[in-house]
Amino acid sequence: MAYELANFCADARASLKAKPLAGALDDMAVNLRKLLANSDFVRETFKDDTPVGKRELFHDAETDFYVLAHVQEPGKKGNPHSHGNSWAIYGNAKAFTEMTEWRRVNGENEAAHVLEQSDLYKLEPGQVRAYGPNVIHSTRHPHPAWVIRVTGTDLDHLPRYHFNRNRDRILEQA
Ligand SMILES: [Fe+2]
Repeated sequence: MAYELANFCADARASLKAKPLAGALDDMAVNLRKLLANSDFVRETFKDDTPVGKRELFHDAETDFYVLAHVQEPGKKGNPHSHGNSWAIYGNAKAFTEMTEWRRVNGENEAAHVLEQSDLYKLEPGQVRAYGPNVIHSTRHPHPAWVIRVTGTDLDHLPRYHFNRNRDRILEQA
């Protein structure tokens, strides 16, 4: 039987309740891969004319995680950010997400963040990656992309890092 959204949500809740975060993130990443392999789920969630933006597919009242469907605007490049004390898992359903991870190279006590690129890769259709608390990353979507994002809480209401171009700096690649 195909792995459905309801299976994913039930398994995610069980993992989050039973395991330390790292183990739960590993489980959810494996399970999100299974969900994305269900072509009926992808077809029911995204259509070619689904407008750009985010849609909530599920919120778990017990553990507070969200499952969100994003239609990414082509050509959009996001700024470096973290998810604060929460976490997120990104899974791609169409086109790709170009992901950059950033390392902070200056002291935590300074207001400005100086960032250096630590990794750069693509998440292709069916590929999934989990990001734990405070990992600084940014995304770029050259083409119209469909993304499932699972987050530990409502990230819009969470204190977290956002790149500020008047304060922060990115070191050029050597
Ligand atoms: Fe993010």
